[in-house]
Amino acid sequence: MAELNKPISYENKIILAPMVRVCTLPMRLLALHYGADLVYTEELIDFKLLQSTRQINDVLGTIDYVDQTDGTIIFRTCSEEKNRVILQLGTCDPDRALKVAQLVQHDVAGIDINMGCPKKFSLDGGMGAALLSNEQKATNILTKLVEGVNIPITCKIRVFDNLQKTIDLVNKLVSTGISAIAVHGRTIHERPQHNNRNEMIKSISQSVSIPVIANGGSREIEKYSDIAQFKKETHCNSVMIARAAEWNCSIFRKEGLLPKDDVIKSYLKYAVDYDNSASNTKYCIQNIIRELQESPLGKIFLRAETLEEICKVWDMDEYYRVQSKKFQAKGLQNRIHFTPASISGAKTHNSSCKRKYEDDDVTLMRCVFLRGRYLSDTDLPKTRLLKWLRENGKSDIVPRYYTWYENKLFRSVVVVDDKKYSSTYWEKNKKRAEQGAALVCLCKLGVINEGHLKENGSLR
Ligand code: FNR
Repeated sequence: MAELNKPISYENKIILAPMVRVCTLPMRLLALHYGADLVYTEELIDFKLLQSTRQINDVLGTIDYVDQTDGTIIFRTCSEEKNRVILQLGTCDPDRALKVAQLVQHDVAGIDINMGCPKKFSLDGGMGAALLSNEQKATNILTKLVEGVNIPITCKIRVFDNLQKTIDLVNKLVSTGISAIAVHGRTIHERPQHNNRNEMIKSISQSVSIPVIANGGSREIEKYSDIAQFKKETHCNSVMIARAAEWNCSIFRKEGLLPKDDVIKSYLKYAVDYDNSASNTKYCIQNIIRELQESPLGKIFLRAETLEEICKVWDMDEYYRVQSKKFQAKGLQNRIHFTPASISGAKTHNSSCKRKYEDDDVTLMRCVFLRGRYLSDTDLPKTRLLKWLRENGKSDIVPRYYTWYENKLFRSVVVVDDKKYSSTYWEKNKKRAEQGAALVCLCKLGVINEGHLKENGSLR
C-alpha cells in the first residue's frame, strides 16, 4: 500500500482555486511551477470517481482514474503535485464521499467539499451550494470524512447576506474537525460582477480558530502584489485565486506576470507531456487568449482540433511530434484505443457481441472523424462516398450504415458493394461514427490517400 502524503498546512498559502475544466493536471502543474503553494482540482463528482478505476500509467508517470464506461480520464495526477494537490469533491452523500476519500487518499494531499457551486446541476443533486441550506447533511459529510481518512478535509463555501448566519454556519462546519475553510465572499445569487464581501471574510476569519482561505478577489488581483492587499483586506493569510489564474497563470509569480504567449507555451508543454485531451487544452487556452480569439492567430487557433495543431500555432508542433513518438514507442494507450467495458468484457465471455463490427470480413482502420478537416458539407466522407459511387457508374449501390451503441459510445459499419468497413475508434455520437466508417471505406477504395489521412491526424 502506498504511503499517505505528508500532512500539509493551510497557513500562509497562495492557492489555485478549483475550476471546472481549467484545473486539470497541466494547469495545476503550471500554477505550481509559477509559485502556487497548493492546487485544487476541478470539482469531481463522487459517483464519477466511483465508476472509475485507478490505473498506474508507466508511460506518462501518472496515476489515472479512468471512467470505465467511456475511457475518459476523470482525474490524472503525478508525483510532482503529490503533496500539494487537493481533490475537490461534489457530493451530497456521506457514504459515497467516504468511499471516494478512501479510494484517493494515497494520491492527494487533501480533500475539499464543494459547498459553493450555484449551478442547477449541483443544486438539483443536493450538492454544492445546496449544502449551505442543509447544515445537517453538510456536517455529516465532513464528520464522516474527518473520522474516516487520515488526510486533511476542508470545504469551500459562499457567504449568506447575513454575517451572523454565515458565522453560525462556519462554526458548525469547523466543529466537525476540518483543517481549513475557503470562503468565497459572494452569496449564491451574486455573480462575478458583484463586489466581493471582503469585510465579511475578515469577520469570519477573526471568529474562527482554523485557517480561513479568502476567495473571490480576482477582479482586484491584476499582479502579484495585489494578492497581499487582498490578504490584508480579508485578514486571511491564505488566499485562493480562480479567474486571475485562469486568464494568466503567472499571477502566482513573485517576479511578475509573463506575456500570455509565454504562459501558453509553458502550459502546452505540460499538456503534451501529460497527453492532455485536445478539447481540454483548447478550452484552457481559449480562456487565456480571451478577446484575442478574434485576431488572425486566434482564428487559426480556433480551427485547430488536435493537440498537434494547437501546438503548431505556437511553433511547438515539433515538440509534440517528438514526445508523441516517444509515448507511442512505449505503448501509450488513451481514448483513441478505448473499447467500452461491456465489449472488452465480451472478449472473454461472449465474443459474438464484438464480432458484429470486428468480424474477419470487416475492413478495419483506426480513423477519427475530425469535423474541421472538411470545409463544406460536400467534402464530408459520407457525401464523398455517394458522389464517388455516382461518378464511377455505381449509382445503384447505396451505402448501408449499421451502428452499435455501447456505454455512451458509437461504432458504425458501412456496407458498400457487399464489403464492410469500420473504424475501430469509438465516437461520441452516431453521426461521427458513420462518418468514420465512410472514411475507412474511402481510404480502402483509394479515393482518399492513406498517407494524407495520417498527415492530417485522422488516421491513428
Ligand atoms: C469556478 N468556481 C468553482 N468553484 C468550486 O468550488 N469548484 C469548481 O469546480 C469551480 N469551477 C469554476 C470554473 C470556472 C471557469 C470559474 C471561473 C469558477 C468558482 C471559483 O473557484 C471561485 O470561487 C470564484 O471564481 C471566485 O474567485 P475569483 O475568480 O474571484 O478568484
